[in-house]
Amino acid sequence: MTKANDNLLVLLPGMGAVATTFVAGVEAVRRGMARPLGSVTQLQTIRIGKRSEGRNPLIKDFVDLAPLEHLRFAGWDVYPDSAFDAARRASVLSNEHVAPLQDFLSEIQPMPAAFDQEFVKRLHGTNVKPTKSKRELAEALRQDIRDAKAKHGTNRAVMIWCGSTEVYTQPSACHQSIEAFEKGLDENDPAIAPSQLYAYAAICEKVPYANGAPNLSADNRALVALAEQNGVPIAGKDFKTGQTLMKTILAPGFKARMLGVQGWFSTNILGNRDGEVLDDPGSFRAKEVTKSSVLDAILQPELYPELYKDLYHKVRINYYPPRGDEKEGWDNIDIRGWLGYPMQIKVDFLCRDSILAAPIVLDLALFLDLAARSGRSGIQEWLSFYFKSPQVAEGHVPEHDLFIQHFRLKNTLRVIGGESPIDHLAED
Ligand SMILES: NC(=O)c1ccc[n+]([C@@H]2O[C@H](COP(=O)([O-])OP(=O)(O)OC[C@H]3O[C@@H](n4cnc5c(N)ncnc54)[C@H](O)[C@@H]3O)[C@@H](O)[C@H]2O)c1
Repeated sequence: MTKANDNLLVLLPGMGAVATTFVAGVEAVRRGMARPLGSVTQLQTIRIGKRSEGRNPLIKDFVDLAPLEHLRFAGWDVYPDSAFDAARRASVLSNEHVAPLQDFLSEIQPMPAAFDQEFVKRLHGTNVKPTKSKRELAEALRQDIRDAKAKHGTNRAVMIWCGSTEVYTQPSACHQSIEAFEKGLDENDPAIAPSQLYAYAAICEKVPYANGAPNLSADNRALVALAEQNGVPIAGKDFKTGQTLMKTILAPGFKARMLGVQGWFSTNILGNRDGEVLDDPGSFRAKEVTKSSVLDAILQPELYPELYKDLYHKVRINYYPPRGDEKEGWDNIDIRGWLGYPMQIKVDFLCRDSILAAPIVLDLALFLDLAARSGRSGIQEWLSFYFKSPQVAEGHVPEHDLFIQHFRLKNTLRVIGGESPIDHLAED
């Protein structure tokens, strides 16, 4: 495996709440102002060998991850605000954290975006590349990547889509093969979304790509094939934060104890720009699809019809400006126990969306870079842990259970680190 010697450039299409909370957070940690809570790469240990050996190194000491000091940042946005202005606007971090970072964050200016209003109806930004053919936009993004690498004096980069949720679409003819996709670029096929131009540019430049939003992006045959052909790791979709994180923690527990679930009603209020974009029915549909598939996949009603066949699952997202990024997610869960007796569970999660998402961006950046250096390419299913709608090889069902995902993540790290996977069967 090549070593993590030089700097790692993290490329961020979309420099809004999540991206700026991530960048500011990394710098705050580097300056010793705060701790990276929520980040597996920074805080978690990994058991190696038998229990009796007592070997529990930190993950970052066990595998060769880029140190935070080596991270550099660049991005694109539809709005011309620097990372400092965008962080202030997002109001996720308090002034106590943002003000001391002004010098650092002001330096990060977004490159003009490849944008198409048809895919994100609620945004009207000005920092947009002149409308050209999709081929020219993709080439311009490739040039941006090369320029940003040169500016930061590094050859290593990863790209994490932190842009707005695009409208819900299904793969079309141009997504069926690399050739069809490239023909679509030349012919300006309206089915090619901006996020797909970024993903295509990244994969062509051999930059690992992860998609933090629910729109398809690299989740189609053409870009998966290109990633495999170019030896580039990819992962997606939709960061698993807030309500879905809670769902994938609770549901496996109900199933493990053979408790029935009759109904799960989830509603959210949020007031950030993401909430505004999701107020558009097309963008909401993309989110609804990723949020809704989770319970069926975990509870397996086809195996346990008695417990889960009639589960009524409803997800609502309501744009409510007064809350800003401080989302509130309510869940009412109707469960059934011994002899079918009903019980209710209420979860009221007063969460901070971007505070939960930022460490995911960090972990994905470091793990994707590790994956690339250890010769992995194509879909990285071991990173399902971080996604609401994990991208999997065609014909396979995604794993949503957080604990199975975590198990797989750690065993993959053991293998990358040259150790044996652990099955938790051994007594010693
Ligand atoms: N915060 C969370 O917990 C969370 C969880 C899961 C997924 N997500 C997803 O992550 C993404 C980012 O969330 P956020 O809260 O930072 O949203 P945000 O609205 O604050 O930031 C998104 C940014 O992307 C920009 N953008 C849109 N289209 C673009 C394009 N084509 N090129 C470049 N920039 C573009 C917008 O101008 C905006 O500044 C959203 O898609 C959201 O659904 C967030």
